[in-house]
Amino acid sequence: MLFDPWNPDFVASPYGAYDVLRREAPVSYYEPTGQWLIARHADVNALLRDRRLGRSYLHVATHEEFGRTPEPEFQEPFWRVIRAGMLDVEPPVHTRLRRLVSKAFTPRMVESLRPQVRAIARGLVDAYVDKGGGDLIAEVAEPLPVTVIAEMLGIPESDRHLLRPWSSDICGMYELNPTPEVQHTAVRAASEFSAYLSDLAAARRRAPGDDLISALTQVEELTEDELVGTCVLLLNAGHEATVNVTGNGWWALFRNPAELERLRHDRSLLPTAVEELMRWDTPLQMFERWVLEDIEVHGVRIPRGSEVALLFGSANRDPAVFADPDRLDVGRADNPHISFGAGIHFCLGAPLARIELIESFGALLDRSVTLELTEEPAWKPGYVIRGLRALELTATG
Ligand code: HEM
Repeated sequence: MLFDPWNPDFVASPYGAYDVLRREAPVSYYEPTGQWLIARHADVNALLRDRRLGRSYLHVATHEEFGRTPEPEFQEPFWRVIRAGMLDVEPPVHTRLRRLVSKAFTPRMVESLRPQVRAIARGLVDAYVDKGGGDLIAEVAEPLPVTVIAEMLGIPESDRHLLRPWSSDICGMYELNPTPEVQHTAVRAASEFSAYLSDLAAARRRAPGDDLISALTQVEELTEDELVGTCVLLLNAGHEATVNVTGNGWWALFRNPAELERLRHDRSLLPTAVEELMRWDTPLQMFERWVLEDIEVHGVRIPRGSEVALLFGSANRDPAVFADPDRLDVGRADNPHISFGAGIHFCLGAPLARIELIESFGALLDRSVTLELTEEPAWKPGYVIRGLRALELTATG
């Protein structure tokens, strides 16, 4: 099968198409989205670090100068929030925004959260196993990272149920060529989410608590849009991919029962297993970059104004970097996977994500005697943010 991101069969298994791209067309123009697909690990890694590309071009050119039509007026509330967060800006604004929150996400800082993450994971897993299983995504994979990031930011418990729907509606816009309905839903979610966070920030400004939103309201150099944009980004990025790594990861283990057994018998493999699950079935399959100055990749000139699509899922199966790349090896030691990105936008939450994943996989292995799939899971339609709809299991303790 060829690269075909709207085809459910491709979404279920894009890896065969990636093999062909990496071998025969490491750089290719993809007409339906007007993007250059980049398939090899070395190129994806190099372009993520190359300052001639950017997550945005609006710091160096207007839409018109870049040959792009401005977004329709109705999308303004969406872009206003998204472009106020660090992920969608370039230096010097990126440097300033990232510095403001990076202290909260250093490995040492998040290590101090481990007992809390462990307690949340164990509580969720205990309840899940006690009732004999169910949908692992809804009952463990989602609530764990949502609770952790919501606690860090200080979102009241009674409002947390709002976060998942807002985030997933906003993320619809990141899929390739979103339909008008998806666009409107994303805009509405962005508006509601911003209004909610503005109100919460105002309350915290008046009566600060011991949380990240309160801390950010005290930072003078942060505009109101930047404050809201930063919180939306942290809340969304802080759980979307972790949910999918948990679901995709367990599904990978069920399809590779010998590796699941290996992990069950040797829990010291959890850190390498988590990295391997992120590599083997990558939760974020593609990231895009704008070409700010002409570049050349494998002799192909890609002019300023183009957009490249970096195929993370393909890079993570590149035989030039990974021995026996299609094999799931929970003990894989040399694993420079690209799932957290590279360069200036390298995932700020990587140390936190690693702790959450190790704790949740560990808790479920510790607490369950058997775990069995009750039905073959189905993939959600999204290709860029790729995950399962549900993962139904029976569990005995
Ligand atoms: C396994 C889970 C996760 C994966 C696979 C992941 C992946 C990524 C990737 C690939 C990027 C870079 C995107 C690009 O270069 O275009 C990124 C950025 C980011 N991630 Fe994560 N992420 C995960 C969990 C988290 C968590 C738990 C947080 C918590 C706050 C987080 C916060 C962020 C932020 C703030 C950025 C933007 C960094 C910047 O622009 O400088 N992520 N993530």
